[in-house]
Amino acid sequence: MRKKIVAGNWKMNKTGEEAIALAEGIKLDLADCVDMEVVVCPPFTAIKPVSDVLAETQVKVGSQNMSSDDDGAYTGEISHTMLKELFVTYVILGHSERREYHKETDCLVNKKVKKALEKNLRPIVCVGEKLEDRESGNTEKVVEEQVRGSLAGITADQFEDVVIAYEPVWAIGTGKTATTEQAQDVHAFIRGIVADMVGQEAADGVRIQYGGSMKPENAAELLSQPDIDGGLIGGAALEALSFVEIVKAGL
Ligand code: PGA
Repeated sequence: MRKKIVAGNWKMNKTGEEAIALAEGIKLDLADCVDMEVVVCPPFTAIKPVSDVLAETQVKVGSQNMSSDDDGAYTGEISHTMLKELFVTYVILGHSERREYHKETDCLVNKKVKKALEKNLRPIVCVGEKLEDRESGNTEKVVEEQVRGSLAGITADQFEDVVIAYEPVWAIGTGKTATTEQAQDVHAFIRGIVADMVGQEAADGVRIQYGGSMKPENAAELLSQPDIDGGLIGGAALEALSFVEIVKAGL
């Protein structure tokens, strides 16, 4: 049985003070939530205060990115050492906004995934097609390339610590959600690729989140699909009420 995982991706939002308030709000309802994994991913500058608020709760803290390198001369980067010191357990890698605005490639994402796993951080690896890919019938081709490229060389055992987030780029922040059927189809397709890469058992165990305008109104239906094991939430994760409602919709 795969345990569902809902993660809030706060992106470049929330000052330290605002982040504390949001974390407090989430803590109020979800501090003891054990039936689902709940993760919040604040911007780097707010990780420390959020970790402090959520210490001794079941809510975990993640980061939105991580360097593929160890500590050293990499201006502007953040290393696994620095994140682990702040009790980060998950790292979002290869988000479409990093791929688009910072030219992250599958090859770089793959290096980051390997580094994270080597250092006992759990990667949330994002994949997803753009609108033009879907309209030209290339969704599966693009998603397969990203899954195989970003997760190349990951062993069946390592897959236990990997979460894949399927986020159709056209649904991110646009209010357009993939239909339940569209999402379920791609999730099943991704599981099939993982089975081909490392075997059916690992594929049956790997958790695949849906992301892209998930909100309280559509969460229950999406989260009830056989291959949708959680959500990666952007906009609706910026308020405790809607984030908590999404989590509850999946319980
Ligand atoms: P959204 O973002 O929920 O605002 O569409 C999701 C994401 O980018 O992770």
